[in-house]
Amino acid sequence: MSSATTTAPADTSALTVQKVGGRIGAVISGVRLGGDLSPETVAQIRAALLANKVVFFRGQDHLDEDSHEAFGKLLGTPVAHPTVPSADGRYSLGIDSDHGARANQWHTDVTFVPAYPAFSVLRAVVIPPYGGNTLWANTATAYEGLPEPLRVLADSLRAVHSNDYDYAALRPQAVPEALKQYKEVFTSTKFLTEHPVVRVHPETGERTLLLGNFVQRIAGLTGRDSRTLLDLFQSHIERPENTVRWQWQVGDVAIWDNRATQHYGVDDSDAHERKLRRVTIDGDVPVGVDGRSSTLISPEEVPDPSFGIASGASTAA
Ligand SMILES: [Fe+2]
Repeated sequence: MSSATTTAPADTSALTVQKVGGRIGAVISGVRLGGDLSPETVAQIRAALLANKVVFFRGQDHLDEDSHEAFGKLLGTPVAHPTVPSADGRYSLGIDSDHGARANQWHTDVTFVPAYPAFSVLRAVVIPPYGGNTLWANTATAYEGLPEPLRVLADSLRAVHSNDYDYAALRPQAVPEALKQYKEVFTSTKFLTEHPVVRVHPETGERTLLLGNFVQRIAGLTGRDSRTLLDLFQSHIERPENTVRWQWQVGDVAIWDNRATQHYGVDDSDAHERKLRRVTIDGDVPVGVDGRSSTLISPEEVPDPSFGIASGASTAA
């Protein structure tokens, strides 16, 4: 890295941001991620992240669990998953194919609690020879692209999110280990949270659609009406123009704004191993267009996780 420019901090001198898609995704080059980045570099990364919703870094093979977490701390407070325990007393969560976990549903992480994460920082450790890509969708441009009457309708709705959904019905091919993991670990505490369907983003002020596969139903509607509306809004989120698809290489890092995106892990690498590590950064309680905040319906509070502080534990608006 050049240090020829004496005025610019050494770690920002070569930082470039190259958009991948028109509405979402950018590659950031010329930065070596870690806990020692200058405030200027962190500010540049954060700005690119808020503008592009997901940013990608190649060649970060030097990162380990500690430096991954140290970098995450520059974006906010790392938090533990509310139910899935940390394997080794760290905030870094394993996303491993051999645990039977599959994320091949469009979702926003951990929306079954009120203050679900603001950012996720995902690092590729083992990548299959083919497949295993991840897609992200921009939920701000999805909202913007709605016809006016649908925007007005969405503004007025609230939805109930839960981690207790019909896993077996969604994944009829699931291996017994995955079903066991889902029943005994993922839903060890069953959460119900009511969110506005349209969230006002706390940093950008944009309106974003807050849905995804943890949604059980639209509050106050019958099951059939609820399903119809959810499918309608979701179809706008998933439009190809709102999405970006990333083909992972070992050493890649992706950071996404979990308040303005959904994502989908494509399950097409057969039995090949895939290992990623995720550090999750605390979020705040969503607020709708009408100023109403999200509310935790049950349990009464988010219980302490096995390690550290839980995502969504803060319920103050
Ligand atoms: Fe996810």
